Amino acid sequence: MAKKLFIKTYGCQMNVYDSARMADVLAPLGYGETDGPEDADMVILNTCHIREKAAEKVFSELGRLKAIKRRRHECGETMILAVAGCVAQAEGEEILRRAPFVDIVLGPQTYHRLPEMVARAARAGGAVLDTEFPLEAKFDFLPAPRVEGAAAFLSVQEGCDKFCSFCVVPYTRGAEYSRPAAAVLAEARALAAEGVVELTLLGQNVNAYHGEGADGEWTLARLIRELAEIDGIGRIRYTTSHPTDLDDELIAVHAEIDKVMPYLHLPVQSGADRILSAMNRRHDRAFYLRLVDKLKAARPDLALSSDFIVGFPGESDADFADTLDLARRVGFVQTYSFKYSPRPGTPAAAHETQVPEAVKDERLAALQALLNENTAAFNHASVGRVMAVLFDRPGRHPGQLVGRSPYMQPVHVEGVGHLINRVLPVRITRVHPNSLAAEPVGNERECA
Ligand code: SAH
Ligand code: SF4
Ligand code: F3S
Repeated sequence: MAKKLFIKTYGCQMNVYDSARMADVLAPLGYGETDGPEDADMVILNTCHIREKAAEKVFSELGRLKAIKRRRHECGETMILAVAGCVAQAEGEEILRRAPFVDIVLGPQTYHRLPEMVARAARAGGAVLDTEFPLEAKFDFLPAPRVEGAAAFLSVQEGCDKFCSFCVVPYTRGAEYSRPAAAVLAEARALAAEGVVELTLLGQNVNAYHGEGADGEWTLARLIRELAEIDGIGRIRYTTSHPTDLDDELIAVHAEIDKVMPYLHLPVQSGADRILSAMNRRHDRAFYLRLVDKLKAARPDLALSSDFIVGFPGESDADFADTLDLARRVGFVQTYSFKYSPRPGTPAAAHETQVPEAVKDERLAALQALLNENTAAFNHASVGRVMAVLFDRPGRHPGQLVGRSPYMQPVHVEGVGHLINRVLPVRITRVHPNSLAAEPVGNERECA
C-alpha cells in the first residue's frame, strides 16, 4: 500500500527545491505526497535558520506533531518524524534534546541518504542524526526530478564563502559548491522535455557559479548562454545574486539574451557605507549604485528587487537615512525587509551596540512604507501594458489562470483555463492588493 509523505517547507527557494528532491528520493520507497500531517506515515519539516523567529517556529510545529504522532501510536500506527534543512544543521543535537520524539535529523547536504536513514530509524531504537558535509555531492545521487507545471527551479550552486557578519548560511549550507555544467544542462534538458518553459537557477550566491565545464570552468553567464540554446526553455531567471559577483559578462547576458527575464534580485541590505563594511558585504553604496546604472544601461526595462536589514548593530539615524535614500534612488519593484536578528555564532551577534527593538520597529515601518510605495507605483504603471505571462497555475475561480509577469508580478486572467502552462500576451487591467488582473490580447495567440 502507498505510504503518505507530508513535507512542510520554511525559508528560501533552495529549501523549496530541496523538499521536492526529498520527495523524489522517497518515491521509490512507496511514499506519495499528502497535504497534511494527520494521516502521514512520514513528516519532514524542512527548516530555516535565517532569523530567530524562523527557527523558533520549528519547535512550536514539533509540539503539534508530537500530539499527532502520539495519537497515531495509540491507534497502532507509526509516523516517522524528520527535521531537515538549516535548523537541523545548526541545532541537530538541540532538536533531539528538546524533541526526543523526532526520529531523523538531517542536514541540507545529506538528504540523498534519506532511504538509508528511514531504514535505520525503522530498525533502531533511538534517533538518526546525519548532519555531515559528505565528500560526495548529493546531486550525483538524486533521481531525475519530477515535473509539476511549466516553471521549475534548478539548483546550480550551493553554500557560501562570503561570511556576511549577520548570516548563518555559510555555517548551515557549508562552503560554496558549483554543480558541473554537464549535470545542470542534463537536468535542464530533462525538464524541458517534460514541458518546463521557465527555469529559475538557484544558489545562495548563484552568480558566484564556477562549475566545471567541457573546456574549463564556466561562469554563470556561460551557463546561461548554453541553457538558452535548449529547445522549449523560453524564460530564464537566477537568484540570489551578490553584487560583487555580478560581472560585466553577466550584465552583457541581460542585454543580449531575450530569454533572460528583465528582473533581478540583488540584495543590498543597507545604504550606509559604515554598515555595509560592518556587515562584511565587501562593497560600498557607490559600487551598488554604479552596478544598477550598468544593468539599466544594458537592459533599460530591467526591474530590481532587493533585501534590506534594519537595526544592524551600530546603525545610527544617519545610516538609516542613507538606506532610505538608496531605496528612493533605485526604486525597487519588490523587496523583502527584516529587522536584524542576532544569530548564534555569527560575528555581529557579539557586537556591543545592539539597536533597541523599538528603534528597529520604527525603522522597519518607515522603510516598508517607502518600499511599498515604490512597488505600488510600479504596479500601477503596469496598467495598460501588454506583458507575456506564463500562466502555470489554475486560479480560485473556474477558468481562471494565475502566472507571473516578466517582472515577477502575480497576474490573473479569466476564461482561458484551457491555455494553462503557456506564455500568453495579456493586457494588465487592474491592480489588486496582491496581484494584477489582466485580459487576453488578440486571438489566444501564444507568445514566441
Ligand atoms: N545570499 C543572499 C541572502 C540569503 S538570506 C544574499 O547574499 O543576499 C536572505 C535574506 O535574509 C538576506 O538577504 C538578509 O536580508 C536576510 N537576513 C539574513 N540574515 C539575517 C539576520 N541575521 N537578521 C535579519 N535578516 C537577515
Ligand atoms: Fe549570507 Fe552573505 Fe552568503 Fe548571502 S552572501 S548567503 S547574506 S553570507
Ligand atoms: Fe533559511 Fe537555510 Fe535558506 S537558513 S534562507 S533555508 S539557506
